[in-house]
Amino acid sequence: MTKILMVCLGNICRSPLAEGILKSKLPDDSFFVDSAGTANYHVGNPPDKRSIAVAKKHGLNISNLKGRQFKVSDFDRFDLIYVMDESNYNNVTTLARNNQDVSKVKMILNVVYPDQDYDVPDPYYGGDNGFENVYNMLDAACSIIADSLK
Ligand code: 4NP
Repeated sequence: MTKILMVCLGNICRSPLAEGILKSKLPDDSFFVDSAGTANYHVGNPPDKRSIAVAKKHGLNISNLKGRQFKVSDFDRFDLIYVMDESNYNNVTTLARNNQDVSKVKMILNVVYPDQDYDVPDPYYGGDNGFENVYNMLDAACSIIADSLK
């Protein structure tokens, strides 16, 4: 079983979308996909309604996901940890205990644009079109991730 964790700040906008998209591209008998936030603001909450809506528009149901906070033991549970932006990268790698932990953490858009360290923009304070933009970025990245793992 390969285990992949998607991480953003709140675990209500970007990482639940990334979780839903990647899950839809991988067989669930050999891959486990989860998501978490570096902050604890939205623990136990469903995804933002705009993320639920954009997922639904593309045929995915993420409405039953629940926010949780990233924890140090996630470095042990997961093989790969994809973060959405540089701030997430810094927040997660600060918690790393050793180089092996750090090596699991990757900027998700680097699978599309190698070594560029582009951020998936935080859509929380913007309009609905920010969510469509984020969806398209994550769909492109997750297609490449799924193809590389299968
Ligand atoms: P996310 O977006 O990190 O993509 O889930 C955010 C959601 C909530 C907040 C910030 C970013 N917030 O400040 O509550």
